[in-house]
Parts: sequence; structure tokens; C-alpha cells
Amino acid sequence: MSNSTTIAADSANPAPFTHREGVLHAEAVALPRIAENVGTPVWVYSRAHFERQYQTLKEALQPLDVRLCYAVKANSNLSVLRIFAELGAGFDIVSGGELMRVLEAGAKPQDVVFSGVGKTVEEIDFALKTGIGCFNVESVAELDRLSSRARILGRPAPVSLRVNPDVDAGTHPYISTGLRSNKFGIPITAAHELYRSAAADRNLVLRGIDCHIGSQILSPAPLIEALSSVLALVDALAADGITLQHIDLGGGIGVPYRADDAAFDVTRWGADIRAALAGRTLDLVLEPGRFLVANGGVLLTRIEYLKPASEPEAPNFAIVDAAMNDLIRPALYDAWHTIERVTGADATPIKQWQVVGPVCESGDFLGHDRELALEPGALLAVHSAGAYGMAQSSNYNTRPRAAEVLVEGDSFRVIRRRETIRDLLAAELPEA
Ligand code: LLP
Repeated sequence: MSNSTTIAADSANPAPFTHREGVLHAEAVALPRIAENVGTPVWVYSRAHFERQYQTLKEALQPLDVRLCYAVKANSNLSVLRIFAELGAGFDIVSGGELMRVLEAGAKPQDVVFSGVGKTVEEIDFALKTGIGCFNVESVAELDRLSSRARILGRPAPVSLRVNPDVDAGTHPYISTGLRSNKFGIPITAAHELYRSAAADRNLVLRGIDCHIGSQILSPAPLIEALSSVLALVDALAADGITLQHIDLGGGIGVPYRADDAAFDVTRWGADIRAALAGRTLDLVLEPGRFLVANGGVLLTRIEYLKPASEPEAPNFAIVDAAMNDLIRPALYDAWHTIERVTGADATPIKQWQVVGPVCESGDFLGHDRELALEPGALLAVHSAGAYGMAQSSNYNTRPRAAEVLVEGDSFRVIRRRETIRDLLAAELPEA
């Protein structure tokens, strides 16, 4: 069999997971090798994909010198963060824990932006003492708290207001953030007034303006609409003597999850942003997560049992060793993840399968109605699992979280060992 791919490319970049001689590979590593060495379920990532996606965004915006602050929440493994730190990325964090991670991964504090609606006093103090680049402030109450912590610590806080432009990102309601009805950001109509009081506050240093309207956005249009509203506010502020250094457009660029999904038009998006920013001196910041990592990862799982239908019209179940505690996206957002055999793609007979995990919930599925030929012991790859996969996994049903593996060319290494049940019990046992 020649080389072939199952997922539409995110861009013009080569696909990281391809069939070679009938075996699915990550870059040049055959996936069965990883399954045999590390066991299943296991997350497998392609370093080359992460690097290429990063360069793709950079290039689409040239000659603008964009700062890409990787949204850590998408995939927060330290080795993944190190890849982006080495590429020169900044980081978008949403917790003190994520700040610890990026510092451990070698981030420069001034390249870190801190988003999120619920920053605690401890988190604010930690970030102020670390000297991060900017707080993306999401409410009046947060601005007050930030100002008072900055005064107490004697360290003026660098600030952007995250404005909510009331733009429909056209995405799943759970990951839409730029509507008035969402909890995020400061209504754009109220932001000017708040900028005025922030400008007069000696404990705050105004740096920029920020917005993030949602995730898995499939066309540039809503992002550009949000940009226009934000720029109108930037102009009104300038007329009022308030000048900002940067504009942060958040993340949100979508990726294909199915073979026939159209890719987000990065070239068009880049051109539109360049046009909108022409003649301005604003620095551009972005917070991409999914685009950089989603299609650079698969969740590798093995079939434990087949439970074929016992009567006509009843479903066929394939029970695999990965579950909703590993990949919750299908259960939570009804998300589609392409599932394919790692070897034997030509196997027959093809039937319609419900690919499910061992967790005791009917919501525990990885894919419904998949046309596949399956046998117990077969390895399956669940695609597009590099973003919001491991990062959202849990220990539900006391299932240890899976290992993570990074592929680099023809070699691979474990970047997070598989948890043990002892690991899970440790926090509940009396100290020795
Ligand atoms: N910046 C902020 C402030 C965000 O809240 C997010 C994502 C990002 C950047 C990165 O967005 P991205 O480029 O990845 O679209 N768990 C969901 C996605 C939640 C996204 C939350 N915020 C999923 O699995 O689809």
C-alpha cells in the first residue's frame, strides 16, 4: 500500500501520521512499536507537526512580527512546552499551575500572558513576583484585586483588558466565549470607561487589549469581525490619550477532524489581519492552542473485546482500553475523532461499530457508527488527539492516566510515564 492519510491536512504541511507499507506511522516510527514498548492506551505526538504548524502561523502573518503565546491548556506536557519555548513562543496561561509549568519548561516570564476569569490572590501574587508580561483582565472586580495586590507587593501590574466583542464564533456553545451571554471578558461597550480608570491607577501599567471569541473556529470571518471592533476601541482610546502597545487576538483557529473537513484558510486570515493592522504600530499577540497541536497527536488504543449485535438492528460494540476518562471530547462536545486501524486497513468484513471504553457510563464512547473491520487485539488510532486530549483526562473509575510519547523522526521517547494505581492512591494515604 502506498502512503496515505486519513485526516485532511491543517495546512500545506505534510501529514504526521501516514500509512507506510500498510502500517500507520508517526513520522518514521511504526505505531505498533510504540504500543509494544509503552503499552496502551498511549498518546503519541509528532514534534515535526508542532513545529510546522507554528511556522505556518508565523509565515501567514509576515512581515508582521507576531508573538505566538501557545495556549498551554491545549496540551501542557512539559516536553511539548519545551518545544514551543525553543521555537521562541510565549505562553498563554490560565492558572498558577500553568505558570509553574511554563517556567519549568524554560519560558521567559515577560513572554507570558495570564488569561482567565477567576485568578486568585495567590495566583496573582505568584505572577506579579515572577514578572509576567501581561494580565488579561476579565472583570472590574479582577482589576480592583490586581491593583491592590500590585500596591501591596510594590510591583505595578502590566494589564490588558479582555474585551468581549459580542461576536458569534459559530462554534460549539461550550467553547464559544465572545458572546454577551458568555462569562468571559468585559463588555466592549463598558471597556473604555474601565481603561480610563486603569490609566489613572499608579499600580497598573496599561499594555494592550485582548479578546478571544471561542475555539475551533472554522472561518476567518468572525475573528476579523472581532478584530475590527477591538480596533475601533483602540482608536477611541487613542483619541482619549490612552495608547496601547499590543493587541492580543486570542486563539481559536480550528482544525479538520474529518477527512473531508475544509482546513481553516490561514493564508486568507493572515492577509486580512495584515490589512486591518496596516499603518498601525500595535504589536500583535496570538494565543493559539488547538491549531498547533491537535492533529499532531493520536490516542493509540487496543481492542479488548468485541460484543457484536445479538439481534438484527442492535448495535455492535467494540470495547477498547481507552475511555472517556482519557479522551472526553466525544462525550462532552459530541466531538468527532477519526478512528482507524493501525494495521490491516484493508481488513474485511466491514461492519458498523460503536467504539466504546470500559467506563461505566453510556456516555463513554470514542466514536459512534464507525465503518470498520475489527478483531480483538487490533490497535486503533484515534486521531486529532494532540489538543484537549490528555490535558482534559481524569482518573474517573480509578483509571491511571495514559503515557505520552513524543516522536522525533525515527525515534520516540516517553515524555510522561503511565500513572500507576499507587500514584492515584498516594494523596489519600496517611503520610508515611
Ligand atoms: N486563549 C484563551 C483565553 C482561551 O480560553 C483559549 C481556549 C485559547 C486561547 C486557545 O484556543 P484554541 O486556539 O485552542 O482554540 N476543551 C475544548 C476547547 C476549550 C478551549 C478553551 N479556551 C475542546 O476540546 O474543544
